[in-house]
Amino acid sequence: MIGPNKIKTAIFISGSGTNLKSLYKFSLTKKSPIKIGLVISNNKDAKGLLFSKKKKIISKVFNFKRKIIVEHKILKELKKRKIRLICLAGFMKILSKNFIKKFKGKIINIHPSLLPKYKGLNTHQRAINNSEKFSGCTIHLVNHKLDSGKIILQKRIKIHKQDTSKSLAKRILKEEHKLYPKAVIKLYC
Ligand code: GAR
Repeated sequence: MIGPNKIKTAIFISGSGTNLKSLYKFSLTKKSPIKIGLVISNNKDAKGLLFSKKKKIISKVFNFKRKIIVEHKILKELKKRKIRLICLAGFMKILSKNFIKKFKGKIINIHPSLLPKYKGLNTHQRAINNSEKFSGCTIHLVNHKLDSGKIILQKRIKIHKQDTSKSLAKRILKEEHKLYPKAVIKLYC
C-alpha cells in the first residue's frame, strides 16, 4: 500500500517496546496497510520511547493516575493526529469502557498466552505451574472485558520441560514480533 493511503496508527507501550519495533519495521514495508503516527506511553522510562525518539515518531507520555482525565487528553491527541487504529503493544494499563467505545473495533492488543487461557498478568509462570504443554500469543480486538475480545490470530508454541517463565517469555516474544504484523494484514488487507 502506498504512503498516503495507509491507516494512521498509534502504538501504546509501557516497557521495552520490542513489538513497537517490529510493527514499525513492518509499517515501512510495501505490504503494510498501516503507518505509525504516534506512540503513547504511561511510563516515561519505557525503553520503547528511546526507539520512537530515534525514529522521530511523535511520542507522548501520559500519567494514568487520573485515568478519566488522561483518557480524555489521549482521545484529543488521537483526533488531532487523525489516528484510526490503536495497537496495544505491551501496554499495561486497562482502558476504560468509554475510551474503548470511542474507538470501537479499532483497538488491537497482543497478549502472551493462548487466550482465553491465562488472561491478565504473569501468564508464563501460571502456564508452567499448570504443567501446560503449550503456550503462545494471541492478537485480539479489545472490548470492555479484559483480554476477551474477538481473536484475530494465535500462535502456539511448545513449553519445554526445562522452561522458566523467562525462557518461555523470550521464545513467545519472538513469535509475537511475527504475529502482530500478520494480524494487521489479516484485518486490513
Ligand atoms: C509482550 O510479551 C506482550 O505480549 C505483553 O508484554 C510484553 C511487551 O513486550 N503484554 C501483556 O502482557 C499485556 N497484558 P514489548 O514491550 O517488548 O513489546
